[in-house]
This record gives sequence, structure tokens and C-alpha cells, in this order.
Amino acid sequence: MKHRLTLIPGDGIGPEITKAVTKILEHSGVEIEWEVVEAGLTAFEKYHDPLPQNVLDSIDANKVGLKGPLTTPIGRSFRSVNVAIRKEFELFVNQRPAKTFKGIPTLYFSDSDLIIFRENLEEFYSGIEHYIDSSRTAAETIGIITKRGSERIIKFAFEYARKHKRKKLTLVHKANILKFTGGLFLDVGVEVAKDYPDIQFDDKIVDNMAMQMVMDPHQFDCIVTTNLFGDILSDLASGLVGGLGMAPGANIGKDVAIFEAVHGSAPDIAGMNIANPSALLLAAVMMLDYLEEAEAAKRIEKALASLIEKGDSVTKDINKTKYIGTNEFADAVCKEMDKRQ
Ligand SMILES: NC(=O)c1ccc[n+]([C@@H]2O[C@H](COP(=O)([O-])OP(=O)(O)OC[C@H]3O[C@@H](n4cnc5c(N)ncnc54)[C@H](O)[C@@H]3O)[C@@H](O)[C@H]2O)c1
Repeated sequence: MKHRLTLIPGDGIGPEITKAVTKILEHSGVEIEWEVVEAGLTAFEKYHDPLPQNVLDSIDANKVGLKGPLTTPIGRSFRSVNVAIRKEFELFVNQRPAKTFKGIPTLYFSDSDLIIFRENLEEFYSGIEHYIDSSRTAAETIGIITKRGSERIIKFAFEYARKHKRKKLTLVHKANILKFTGGLFLDVGVEVAKDYPDIQFDDKIVDNMAMQMVMDPHQFDCIVTTNLFGDILSDLASGLVGGLGMAPGANIGKDVAIFEAVHGSAPDIAGMNIANPSALLLAAVMMLDYLEEAEAAKRIEKALASLIEKGDSVTKDINKTKYIGTNEFADAVCKEMDKRQ
């Protein structure tokens, strides 16, 4: 089946790494017709709009997209495209795997394979905040958690765990202090868990969770949590497995999903053919899995893992003394896939 998908090459290193990734996808044999649209700084400079209507129309029509990193200039009236897309299509799941790869140095772990499901729309990211006095000495942010919002992210995490034969889901909260918002999220989780007796379920208070993840991440499998805690814990998890170099992410809603690397547009190395496309490639692997192209997804991930483990045909961020360029790295992944046919 041919997939028609939206491709946003993005800013900075975005075009280089998307070129590498689309080459590898083509080599995998999965048939994809890309609709290429521009967003971010590139679109702002051309059309005075970082998120032109044709980008939204393309995502709306194709339902699935791969997005390169976008530059968000500081101090300009420039809305965050990432947040705007999330809100427009109600992408309520932020899915962030954190997996170790042999060849990527980590502080002290190996064989860690966590997935964090972060609620992506509610709570302190609702944008409802203001100063409460005219002299601006106090401010408040209103964080709303709903039963509907909690139910859909927790169910999503359970369904994913079941489909991918994962064993355990840990719900993270602060219900001991945030008795209403955190309490509601936890109560919904306990209720939803009754429908998934095949998945082990437990809960942890967020501060203990942060400590436990550092002390012994192997005790965790899938994690579901609210927006702010998920934001922090997913970067903590990336740190455990060697940083953002291999960190993909997905924003998923009822019928739309956008896949991306977690890192930014790296303007300091843009155009130099030294960027590492691995995080975006792993995002593309997640996308293939979402599109029910699991066999190709596995083949690409295995080829990438094998290349990284060998360590002599990798990008400069991984091996500073013996490295190849972004384009050459894409070719090396394709060759590695051929060897495994
Ligand atoms: N999802 C997104 O679109 C996204 C995410 C984060 C930051 N940003 C934006 O990106 C811009 C730059 O942000 P930043 O500098 O804080 O973070 P960054 O992630 O772009 O770069 C941080 C450091 O990591 C390096 N790096 C990042 N990706 C790399 C890769 N694939 N290969 C090799 N090295 C890589 C960079 O060279 C830099 O030294 C900002 O405008 C920011 O708003 C976008």
C-alpha cells in the first residue's frame, strides 16, 4: 500500500537530516509519496507566517507527517509551531521512547528500554496564566485536568503496552499534594487499569519516580503521566540513555500523528553535512510502526543499531576521531540493511 504523508523538512539541519531519512525509507521498500510543505523560520521568512494554512491542510488530508526541527526565534512575535500543531489537531499523546544503543555512551546503564506517554494538551500548558495584581508581584497558572483527557492518554498507553507486548505501566502523579488534579488522574488510571488485567499496573509519586529512574530504570517499562511531569521525566529518561542524539518523539491524536526528533534545528552545524540523522530516523521508525509497517521498521532499527555498535561509520557527534557525513551515514544504513536481507 502506498502511503501519502506530509513532510516538513524544517529549519537549520532539518533539510539535511530529512533528506537522509527519506533516502533510507525509500531503500526500505515502503512506498511513500511525500507532500513537502514548509513551516518554521523558513516559512516565516518566505511567507511571514511560521505555520501557513497549506501545512495544516496537508496534515489534515494526509493524517500522518514527519517533521524536521523548527527554529523558534527568541523575543519575536513568533508562535510556537509545535504547540500550534498539537492544539490544532488535538494531539493528546506525546510518546517518548528512551532506549539504550550499544556504542552510545551512557553514564551507567545498559539495556534500558522505557517509553513515556505524556499528556500533551492539559494542565499547566493550557496557557491560562496571568499576574494577579497590577504591580506584578504575584502570578498564577491554572492547570486543568479532565476525566476525558486523563482517560484517553491512559487508555492509549495501555493499548500500546498490550499491542507491543510490554509488561508494565506505571502512572506517575503528585496526588498526595495535588489532591484534586493529581487525584483525578490517579483515580482514572486505577479505574482504566481494571480493563487491562494482562498489564501490570502501579503508580508512583513523581519525586520518588525521578529518584527511582536514576537508581534503577530497569524496573520500569511504560510510564504514563501528566504534561509537566512528562516533559521533565522524558528528558531525564533521554539523559539516562545518552542524551538527545538518539531521542525520537511523536505527537499523536485520534486520527493524526506527527513524528519528529526531540533535538532542535542545531543552527551551529546547519549545512555542514555533519548532523546525525538518527533521532529523526528513529522517529520515522515509530511512524512506520504506526502505519502498520512493522517489518520495515524493525529492519531499519536493526541496521541503525548495528552501525552504531560498530562505531566506525557514524557521525561526528558519536565518534569525534573517525566519522562520516550525514549523506554518507544514510548510505551506510542502506548498505547495512542490504546485508541483513
Ligand atoms: N522539535 C523542535 O522543533 C525543536 C526542539 C528543540 C529546539 N528547537 C529549536 O531549535 C533551535 C536551536 O535550539 P538549541 O540550540 O537549544 O538546541 P539544539 O538541539 O538544536 O542544539 C543543541 C546542541 O546539540 C547539537 N545537535 C542537535 N541536534 C544534532 C544532531 N542531529 N546532530 C548533531 N548535533 C546535534 C547542536 O549542534 C547543538 O550544539 C531553537 O530555535 C529551538 O527553539 C526546536
